[in-house]
Amino acid sequence: MSDYFKVISSTGEYGVHIGHDVLNSRIGSPAQQIIICDKFFASTYQGLGVKVISIEAVETSKSLERMSEVIVALRNLGANRNTTILAIGGGVIQDIATFVASIYMRGLKWDYFPTTLLGMVDSCIGGKSSINVGKYKNLIGNFYPPGNIYIDLKFINTLSAEQKIAGLCEAVKICFAHTGNAFEHYVALNPNAASSPEIYLETIRLSLLTKRWFIEIDEHDHKERQLLNFGHTFGHAIEGASNFVIPHGIAVGMGMLAAIECARLNGQFLTMPTRVTMLESYITELLSSITDISLWIKQIAVDELMDRFNADKKHIATHYAVILPDAEGHLIRFELEKNDANRGLIFTAFCKVCQNTLVAV
Ligand SMILES: NC(=O)c1ccc[n+]([C@@H]2O[C@H](COP(=O)([O-])OP(=O)(O)OC[C@H]3O[C@@H](n4cnc5c(N)ncnc54)[C@H](O)[C@@H]3O)[C@@H](O)[C@H]2O)c1
Repeated sequence: MSDYFKVISSTGEYGVHIGHDVLNSRIGSPAQQIIICDKFFASTYQGLGVKVISIEAVETSKSLERMSEVIVALRNLGANRNTTILAIGGGVIQDIATFVASIYMRGLKWDYFPTTLLGMVDSCIGGKSSINVGKYKNLIGNFYPPGNIYIDLKFINTLSAEQKIAGLCEAVKICFAHTGNAFEHYVALNPNAASSPEIYLETIRLSLLTKRWFIEIDEHDHKERQLLNFGHTFGHAIEGASNFVIPHGIAVGMGMLAAIECARLNGQFLTMPTRVTMLESYITELLSSITDISLWIKQIAVDELMDRFNADKKHIATHYAVILPDAEGHLIRFELEKNDANRGLIFTAFCKVCQNTLVAV
């Protein structure tokens, strides 16, 4: 089970390698490499004679304030302009590695080894870094793709069901956002938390090849790529208002359900288009298999939910900018005027996905 394809970016092509045990063979001279890894894997790499910076994969680790610590750690380990960073971890480690690799001595080479399904199906390509500032999630960042991405399928073995579902929410979003037949293929695969390695491999391949279309046509997020923000304006609010108890990918899954409900309440369709119904059923089933979801939802601070929704960087001065399905079931960028009626509509959409447990404050 292996695969290889290239992605074209404005800074050159980069390769995506998929297979088993693709990581160990890439570890080379400590004089030339420094590993930045998720603390979860620190003991695996420390003691191998390689230089390791290990970071806890929590949202507070990717704050602007913490970036200087990582940069100083690189300097203390002797990183110079010939150093290659090997980043090993999920989206948190990727965001940090992308950012520091892009600015350390005006740019170091780096390779990425995603260890979460979310990293494998989505974030590993596209070159984005997203760093939190104060209470604002992903407020700053840049584009700095790695030289190579190595997807080692063995990392899936240690993921929990919730971590797999988080990745699947991002994968189905990508396939749904494309107007071709990626979503039909995805539905035929029907991946879930108990799928076989073969199904995960097919899901990773389908999701990345579909995302490649978006990032090659609109690398810097001006038009088509914005559709991949589907579920994120609602999802980031849910994630943040739960104080990050609800993992990113699962919040995006809930965010897509909220966006569908928002479209319905806003009269985008009289009858829900078939592909939207299929998406809604698939996500609802995935999320309902999470044992702790009701406990997580109880952690949501209702006042923060609307505050965080209002503060999303994608809105414009007079309107909320959201990605919603249209009457044909395809995604469009939609602007909702900032007024009390629309704030009520958005809150009602949040209520539905939060099992109607929210109380307005
Ligand atoms: N830059 C981008 O393009 C992009 C895209 C999507 C999401 N993101 C960001 O990524 C973050 C979410 O990333 P994520 O969901 O990949 O996970 P993560 O990096 O937040 O890690 C989640 C948990 O999984 C653990 N973990 C990682 N690999 C594991 C493995 N193989 N086995 C067992 N446990 C493992 C981590 O230690 C951590 O506890 C968010 O901050 C989000 O904003 C970035």
